[in-house]
Parts: sequence; structure tokens; C-alpha cells
Amino acid sequence: MRVMRTLMRWLLPVILLCSFCSVAFWIFISNNNVIPHPASRIPQKASNTQSCKACKDSVIIGKALGNYSNSWKKHEANYKRFRLLLNEKCHAVSKAVVTQNNTPLGSNVVYDGERRKPLQVTQALYNILAKEQPFGNATWESCAVVGNGGVLANSSCGEEINSAQFVIRCNLPPLDDRYEKDVGNKTNLVTANPSILHEKYSGLMERRRPFVESLHSYGQALLLLPAFSYGHNTPVSLRAFYTLEDFGREGPLPIFLNPEYLRKLTKFWREQGLNSVRPSTGLIMASLALEICTNVHLYGFWPFGKHPNDSRPITNHYYDNRESKKNVHSMPSEFEQLLKLHKQGVVHIHLGECQPAHR
Ligand SMILES: *[C@@H]1O[C@H](CO)[C@@H](O)[C@H](O)[C@H]1NC(C)=O
Ligand SMILES: *[C@@H]1O[C@H](CO)[C@@H](O)[C@H](O)[C@H]1NC(C)=O
Ligand SMILES: *[C@@H]1O[C@H](CO)[C@@H](O)[C@H](O)[C@H]1NC(C)=O
Ligand SMILES: *[C@@H]1O[C@H](CO)[C@@H](O)[C@H](O)[C@H]1NC(C)=O
Ligand SMILES: *[C@@H]1O[C@H](CO)[C@@H](O)[C@H](O)[C@H]1NC(C)=O
Repeated sequence: MRVMRTLMRWLLPVILLCSFCSVAFWIFISNNNVIPHPASRIPQKASNTQSCKACKDSVIIGKALGNYSNSWKKHEANYKRFRLLLNEKCHAVSKAVVTQNNTPLGSNVVYDGERRKPLQVTQALYNILAKEQPFGNATWESCAVVGNGGVLANSSCGEEINSAQFVIRCNLPPLDDRYEKDVGNKTNLVTANPSILHEKYSGLMERRRPFVESLHSYGQALLLLPAFSYGHNTPVSLRAFYTLEDFGREGPLPIFLNPEYLRKLTKFWREQGLNSVRPSTGLIMASLALEICTNVHLYGFWPFGKHPNDSRPITNHYYDNRESKKNVHSMPSEFEQLLKLHKQGVVHIHLGECQPAHR
């Protein structure tokens, strides 16, 4: 007991420091979420001091729009080719989630961002892993991956998003009445980065009911936790798991993102020419969707501070204007990749307003 206490006294500051770093990191990741970020080079507010940045912004937006077409048509062969490639290299269906199948008792989970300190799968950890892949053999006819970009505000896309068979959302976005018209309220999978668990729910070290209650809006969705990116992400993610378990099995079903899948995905996108440390949550979800869905629709993916249609200034997220703290992505290069796929008829990026009862 005494040893534990002394250990804790020494460890606590270290842990706090680590979790602080992880928060900072995940803020970066989550802000990169979806919005494959522009921030550092492209100012969010074009009216800022340096008008030259603003004109650069316009040029990039112009180029991007040049590659965008509203009248999208799926190109079956391109889609199949890309999907097959992803399938060969990443195999989301068997790898995306840590399961008892792909992660046996006694094996090691190798952290994505901390390779040298693997986590051994104890009986306790093993017991809470999903028994099998939640995606099984399922191929959904249509999937909507909803990014949190400000481009969704006033888009009236809610109905269209709800009409998808499988709806994926990123980082516990708000879905209340204020936003339902624009983003819908159906959710089949939602991600929760450790940063948001720290920011909004005190890292689940205090009252946990607010967390559980706020998850009601996602119904029975899968709650995807990137628990094994860094060692310090694990405890808070496990607390999320246990909280949901303790409060009854009515809410979302927590599952853990597989760091091995993340590594494969990072390599895959590097080979496609993406020069970033690792894909954002938005790109990870889009990649997952490409393997498990026949038709992939992306909403809220638009990494610029101006609306594509009429150049009106838009906020960073559809629900707030929080800027990313720091950013190593110098260009919205993820968006460029997705735009390429849009152009090739592989994924359908939706910008601008949706027509009512569109599909
Ligand atoms: C648009 O497409 C052209 C040619 O395919 C490419 O060179 C350019 O980088 C693309 N621009 C953007 C912003 O995606
Ligand atoms: C997937 O399909 C194969 C063959 O059709 C079947 O043997 C297997 O049980 C299925 N797995 C799941 C998880 O549905
Ligand atoms: C959305 O519409 C409301 C009401 O018309 C307006 O006040 C708000 O600025 C709009 N938001 C965006 C991001 O365009
Ligand atoms: C979505 O909203 C509709 C109408 O407001 C409601 O009937 C439905 O239960 C909601 N669905 C979810 C998953 O919250
Ligand atoms: C684009 O803007 C024009 C007016 O500038 C408006 O009439 C139109 O509905 C908008 N379209 C979309 C898709 O946002």
C-alpha cells in the first residue's frame, strides 16, 4: 500500500504531464478531424491582415473547386480498383477494431505512436475486447461519413444523411435540434478522441453521468475509441468503456480502434502521396467506409474558411469556431486526396446545400 502510494506520488505528475501532451496531441488530431486542415497556411479569415494570404486562399479554393463537380457520377471500375487496393493493404473488416480474434490473450498491442512500449493483453483486457469484428461481412449499400466542417452549417443535409444505411460521425459531435436539419441525427458509428473525454468530461475522473447522458443522442451506435495510439490514451478510454458498462448496456457499444490498422492506413496513404504524420479521424473513417460500403458519401469535408458556393466566411466546425492549436499539416493535402477520389467517381463529396428528399 505504502509502496503504491509513494509510486503514485511520483507517477501522478508524470501521468498528468503525459495526458496533457495527449490532450494537446488529440486536439491537433481532432481538429484535423474531418477537416484535413488548412489552418497554418490558409487563414480561416481571409479578411485578416495579410491580404496576400487571402489571395493564396482563393487560388487554392479555386483550384479545388475546379476539381469538384456537383453532378457526380460513380465510376464502378475506379471504385472497385480502389476498394480492392485498400482491402489488400489494410483490410478493415478484420483489422479496424481490436478483437479477441486478431488480438489473442497474452499477445502485445503495439501502440501506434509509441512502438517501443507495447501493452500485453491481460485476461481483463481480453475480456472487454469485441468478440468479433463489428463490421462482419456486412457491406452497406450507402454510407455517410459526416465530418464536422463548418460547410455543413445551413446545408439542410440532415435528411439526406439520415437516409444513408450506415452513418459515421467523428468525435462526439452535437446532434441536437439546432443542428439536426443540417447534419441529421442517425448514427451507426461515432468516434471519441481522448482529448474530448478530457475536455468535456474531466477525463471521466469526476461525475460520469453527464458523459453517459450526452451519448444518448447516438443511440446504439458503435463508439470507436482510439485507445491504443499512445499509452496515456488507454486509461481514459478504458474508463469510457467501464462507464458505459457500469451504467447499463443501453447506450453506444464501445470498441477500440486497432493501432495496426492505423499503421497500415498511414502507409497506404503515404503511398498515395499523402505527406502527413498520420491520417486524421475523418480520413480514417472515409477509408473504413470505402471498405465496408458500396456507396460512400462525405459531408462536412471542406477545409477552407470560405464557403465553396458563395465564399461567405464559415466557421471551423458546424457547431463552433474553435481553431486548431497547432498544425503540422501545411496543406489540406488529405482533402486533395479525397477530391481526387471524388473526381474519379470513387467517393461522393457533398458541398453546399442538399435538396430535400434527394435520394
Ligand atoms: C486538381 O486537379 C489537378 C489535376 O488533376 C491537380 O494537379 C491539382 O492538384 C488538383 N487541385 C486540388 C486543389 O485538388
Ligand atoms: C462471413 O462470411 C463467411 C462466408 O460467407 C462465413 O463463413 C462467416 O461466418 C461470415 N462471418 C461473419 C462474421 O458473418
Ligand atoms: C446560417 O443561417 C443563419 C440564419 O440565416 C445565419 O445567421 C448564419 O450566419 C448562417 N451560418 C452560416 C455558417 O452561414
Ligand atoms: C431523429 O429525429 C426524429 C424526429 O425528430 C426522431 O423521431 C428519431 O427518433 C431521432 N432519431 C434518433 C436516432 O435520435
Ligand atoms: C449557391 O449560392 C446561390 C446564391 O449565391 C444560391 O442561389 C444557391 O442555392 C446556392 N447553392 C448551393 C448548392 O449552396
